[in-house]
Amino acid sequence: MNSRRAFVIAIVTLAAAFLQNSAALSQSVPPAPTFYRDVQPILQKRCQSCHRPGEMAFALTTYEEAASHARAIRESVVTKKMPPWLADRNYGHFANDPSLSPDEIKTVSNWVDRGAKEGNPHNTAAPLRQTEGWNIRTPDTVLEMPKAVPLPARGDIDYTYEIVPTRFSEDRWVQMAELRPSSREHVHHAVVYIRPPDSKWLRNVPPGVPFTHGDLTHAQWTDSDILIIYAPGSSPEVWEPGKAKFIPAGSDLVIQMHYMAMGHAASDRTSVGLVFAKQPPAQRVLTLQLTNDHFVIPSQDSDYRVEARGSLPNDATLLSFFPHMHWRGKRFEYNLIHTDGRIEPLLKVRWDFEWQLTYVLATPRPLKAGTVLQAVAWYDNSRNNPHNPDPTQEVRWGEQTYDEMMVGFFDVAVAADIDKWKYFLRGGTSGAPAH
Ligand code: HEC
Repeated sequence: MNSRRAFVIAIVTLAAAFLQNSAALSQSVPPAPTFYRDVQPILQKRCQSCHRPGEMAFALTTYEEAASHARAIRESVVTKKMPPWLADRNYGHFANDPSLSPDEIKTVSNWVDRGAKEGNPHNTAAPLRQTEGWNIRTPDTVLEMPKAVPLPARGDIDYTYEIVPTRFSEDRWVQMAELRPSSREHVHHAVVYIRPPDSKWLRNVPPGVPFTHGDLTHAQWTDSDILIIYAPGSSPEVWEPGKAKFIPAGSDLVIQMHYMAMGHAASDRTSVGLVFAKQPPAQRVLTLQLTNDHFVIPSQDSDYRVEARGSLPNDATLLSFFPHMHWRGKRFEYNLIHTDGRIEPLLKVRWDFEWQLTYVLATPRPLKAGTVLQAVAWYDNSRNNPHNPDPTQEVRWGEQTYDEMMVGFFDVAVAADIDKWKYFLRGGTSGAPAH
């Protein structure tokens, strides 16, 4: 009897000890995240392409830099303002979506909430292998404007062009391309065209000298392919292995710059860095566009819709999107219109003029000749749009930011021997709605 009671008591004591133990376990708080172990790897992966010395935003590379911005960092990641990404997550998957995972957001916010601890510098992640001055690998070649473009302190600046000879003696396939202005704050956007040696475009203009449309005797239109587009917040072009842009031997780059006066005179000498493909790719990348330049946005209209559509003249694999509007832009969509009329959204973005991004499909999408693509843009020309330069004006297509644009650029991959001109040849005619 006694011994049995003792046994029961022993069990009860054991159970109590066990319960106590597990209570202690569940109450034990995980160690506070530290900069070197937990936060630095996230900053390296998701922030330092822009937040490092020489890039567009203040540096977040050292502990001191990150700690001094700790509250703002927390705020920016919790609200998903940083890193910038404007695609509606309900549509499409994108290879270059830089968004932090929920766990990463939690790590950063816990780090700040628990004192932004430094931790052990020996835990430091290996520094990112970054090329100074570039966000691509060290370029195989850098083509710089031969002459700097003088920029006035005030007033509109017409689109400025400069022809930069490549002097390539053989054909080149480009895997990565990046545009670097020397005076970034003055650049509103830039487009780099590839002018092959047999093109007649701008042949009457000497290379290596800046000029504007006003300097030309007549307007010039081009079917030259685009190498890169540069705009606020945009990242360099990196095409996946097996797909590349083609620069024929003897081509020139024609750089179109849209500069803005910033209140002080300056000059800019833009460079283009190129990394060549290791071997000729199976596919060539072409940049096409859906454009509508016929719209009139009424004054005060807060949700004005403009659309453009076109059918692909030949098979192509859809790779990426790059929408372009100005200050009155509000939303932009790309859709695929099926033959039964069904509309399949491919990308929906909230427009932010400051963040003109490329959206690269996680899975490239093969499309048949005849596929109809649609781009739809919405504009807010009301006084509620804080960026609206003048809600009393009717707005049409134009070069300056107080005018508007509606361009849905998109990249496709086609067979390596197809150039833009051949792509649009359809049964002997070249009339193509999407160009
Ligand atoms: C595509 C480039 C880019 C990336 C990637 C990026 N930022 Fe930024 N960030 C900027 C620019 C540009 C600014 C404005 C800088 C200025 O005003 O000097 C900015 C501003 C900020 C600010 C200032 C407060 C604010 O909200 O404006 C914080 C904080 C910040 N970024 C944190 C981050 C963090 C953390 C990451 C990574 C998780 C990140 N950024 C990724 C470009 C970027």
